[in-house]
Amino acid sequence: MGKIIAVGTGIKSISHLTEETRVVIKSADHCLYLVTEEHLKTWIEKESKSSQSLESFFFDSEKRAEIYKNISAFIVDEAKKYESLCVIFYGHPTFYAKSALAAVNEHKKQGYEAIVLPSVSSVDCLWSDLCVDPGDGGCSIFEATDFLVSKRVFDTRSHLILLQVGVIGGDDLNIKDNLNILQTYLEGYYPHNHTAYIYEASSLPGTEPYIDRVQIDNLGGATISKISTLYIPPTEKAHQDPEMIQKIINNAH
Ligand SMILES: C[S@@+](CC[C@H](N)C(=O)[O-])C[C@H]1O[C@@H](n2cnc3c(N)ncnc32)[C@H](O)[C@@H]1O
Repeated sequence: MGKIIAVGTGIKSISHLTEETRVVIKSADHCLYLVTEEHLKTWIEKESKSSQSLESFFFDSEKRAEIYKNISAFIVDEAKKYESLCVIFYGHPTFYAKSALAAVNEHKKQGYEAIVLPSVSSVDCLWSDLCVDPGDGGCSIFEATDFLVSKRVFDTRSHLILLQVGVIGGDDLNIKDNLNILQTYLEGYYPHNHTAYIYEASSLPGTEPYIDRVQIDNLGGATISKISTLYIPPTEKAHQDPEMIQKIINNAH
């Protein structure tokens, strides 16, 4: 009774839906969805037993935090009305998406069952389109505002990914023009001519991703949108510590 199944659609319309996710959407008693791509909306409405968009929450407030909190509370309430409730989010349902995870955790806290299924996130698309292996030197991923205000510790010899670079400093949904602040901050760590990438995965099969190469010292003037992600490649390979290597060798014998 009252099981929540949180799923993600992936990024590219219906083509990123996993077989597992398709089955859940079709078999759940009810689906709540928050997706923007039109073919995907139509597919969900047609294939599910019954469905409702969560988009109207965005008309009630401009504050992101408030909207996400309201959505979570609504999901938890709705789940009590059905045997199984599928909640569908864009990308991966718990990757930089607070509402689904908060609902899942609250529902479990109240003694009910809730699960999350994996799916393709925007960063998975980035690995493919920019041909990056995050395991090669490691990778840090931060939300852009949090990266700046919490002075997050990162390593310029690893890959760096910043989400929500289009809304730095905002709890509302409007584009902010604070890329200049990010530029100045990054110039303190990277060579000024180091290349960064503004990246937007394509949302339709057959269309190209948006990839803009920009030098760190030109970042402030770059064109961004709410779905832009910033990727900064490593500056150099890390030097290996001979003492640590020796310790590991000695320990094995
Ligand atoms: C609230 S997070 C949602 C992430 C989403 N759950 C996912 O799985 O990718 C929104 C941020 O994800 C990134 N993002 C979303 N769509 C994207 C796309 N098509 N291409 C690149 N980055 C994207 C951007 O950094 C954007 O500001």
